[in-house]
Amino acid sequence: MEEQSTRIFIFIGLMVLLSDCAALDTISANQTIKDGNTLVSKGEMFEIGFFSPGKSKNRYLGIWYKKISYGTVVWVANRETPIADKSGTLQFSRHGNLVIVSGGNHLVWSSNSTVSVQSNNPVVVQLLDTGNLVVWNKNKLIWQSFDYPSDTILPGMKFGTDLVTGLQRCMTSWKSPDDPSIGEYSNIVDTSGYPQTLGWKSEVLLARLGPWNGLGFSGFPIEKENKVYSMEFVINDKEIYHKYELKSSVLQRVVVTWDGKTRILQWIERIKDWFVYADTFVDTCDRFSLCGPYGICSINKHPPCTCMEGFEPKNPEAWDASDWASGCIRKKPLDCRNTNGDGFWKLEGVKVPDTRKSWYNVSMTLHECEMACKKNCSCTGYTSLDIRNEGSGCLLWLDELLDTREYDLDQDIYIRMAASELEGHVDSTKKKRILTMVLLILSTLPIIFVVAYTCRNIKKRAQVKKRGNNYMRDEKNTSLQMEQFVDLQFFRLCEVAMATNNFNASCKIGEGGFGPVYKGLLEDGREIAWLHFSGVRSVWAFLYKI
Ligand SMILES: *[C@@H]1O[C@H](CO)[C@@H](O)[C@H](O)[C@H]1NC(C)=O
Ligand SMILES: *[C@@H]1O[C@H](CO)[C@@H](O)[C@H](O)[C@H]1NC(C)=O
Ligand SMILES: *[C@@H]1O[C@H](CO)[C@@H](O)[C@H](O)[C@H]1NC(C)=O
Ligand SMILES: *[C@@H]1O[C@H](CO)[C@@H](O)[C@H](O)[C@H]1NC(C)=O
Repeated sequence: MEEQSTRIFIFIGLMVLLSDCAALDTISANQTIKDGNTLVSKGEMFEIGFFSPGKSKNRYLGIWYKKISYGTVVWVANRETPIADKSGTLQFSRHGNLVIVSGGNHLVWSSNSTVSVQSNNPVVVQLLDTGNLVVWNKNKLIWQSFDYPSDTILPGMKFGTDLVTGLQRCMTSWKSPDDPSIGEYSNIVDTSGYPQTLGWKSEVLLARLGPWNGLGFSGFPIEKENKVYSMEFVINDKEIYHKYELKSSVLQRVVVTWDGKTRILQWIERIKDWFVYADTFVDTCDRFSLCGPYGICSINKHPPCTCMEGFEPKNPEAWDASDWASGCIRKKPLDCRNTNGDGFWKLEGVKVPDTRKSWYNVSMTLHECEMACKKNCSCTGYTSLDIRNEGSGCLLWLDELLDTREYDLDQDIYIRMAASELEGHVDSTKKKRILTMVLLILSTLPIIFVVAYTCRNIKKRAQVKKRGNNYMRDEKNTSLQMEQFVDLQFFRLCEVAMATNNFNASCKIGEGGFGPVYKGLLEDGREIAWLHFSGVRSVWAFLYKI
């Protein structure tokens, strides 16, 4: 008798445990979550239930952190349709949709799932430890809250567009800390040109996170060896999205605050609070198109705006009064119909311009890209899509270049310009490289002279010593020296003069202690840079190959 009662007791205990487990993170078709009850994810990271934000008395269904930062809400279902009392219930509709009803049967919100449910398979909803609320029909995913972000992007969420269903996952701020309805600020992956993330305040474009360049977002600091999170960008004919995943146990989330700040927040267990890991839009140059079309914003310059090479302020008076919005215009018009009428100016180290009006091809080379841009008269510039491994892919701009900023990274763009504007210009890299070469040679000249002088003296002395018995060897030495000179090229001064328009000032690219340095084009098409070595009756020249 005694034995049997113990057995029954154990059995009942087990039953309670089992049902507790089952009710933990899932509810099935016939179950509901009433206001006051919650569902907790398996690892107890997240909890879903009804809540009232801040001072508000309205009730909303939301998901919040449970293990850490208890009550910090990451997702809200009925953002636009609050419930005034505590009668809200989350349940399944007859068609397998997740619905919120109030006052018994008033429909407040529906998941509006588009995937059809097979009625012979059970439907369950489960809260995952990632913060994702998912509806399963057996093993088929029917609906998930990750597809409908509120103001928070959690690790593992896709941020972007599903091109098949047209679903656009974007971030929208709350109206206020007391009101989770859709506020003024939103971040959207814009796919009208090459995808880029845009930050809007209602209809006003506030800021732009540059397009993905293979390493990160153009214009956003990239940590190559980031130990905390990894970023992924996927672009194919089915979908375009960004996704970030945490690499360690560090917890982060990306949020757009009700007052318009987009930031990465990181949980610090020691202080039990979130701290701002990164703000995406921080300085003057992050304001969209501060310097107008063809302007460049440089945070280290005062004023920050300058015009691109070959451009001048459209409205000089306004420009000088620090109103840069009208931007810059070309000094010389383009000449597109003439095949050699236009060329390209390389601008180095920039956050690339707005790509809303752009065209791209992931497999083209930079050279093919240049050709494509040259052929299309609407094309204003081009660059590589992916800056890794010397660059690949092609991005063409088909409109004015907006929102370019100086940026300390290996991304260069090529700006269309009248060939006549490019004449007499060497682009800045070439200029730098030539000057470096010249300076290098200049700095080694004294050493060469000293070495040559010393060698000559030593040789003379040796010759004096060995004269008579070593004539043949000396001859050999001389011929060797001549062979070394074969690589040198000699130009007549008239050739050089012709290449430089008679040493025209427009060909001068710099001046050092030894004299001016010129640049020009020889008749055979080779580019030449040379130094007038004043003081000695000779001209030093360097061939420079493009
Ligand atoms: C749900 O409840 C209804 C009626 O109470 C019942 O007919 C049905 O079999 C139940 N379904 C499940 C999956 O338990
Ligand atoms: C679901 O569809 C209804 C009717 O089309 C619409 O009013 C409601 O806003 C939709 N709900 C959601 C969450 O999109
Ligand atoms: C992209 O460029 C490659 C190589 O030039 C070409 O074969 C391909 O058709 C292009 N794709 C599109 C969509 O234009
Ligand atoms: C330039 O290229 C774009 C994108 O391919 C195209 O829509 C436009 O018609 C082209 N314009 C001209 C003048 O060829």
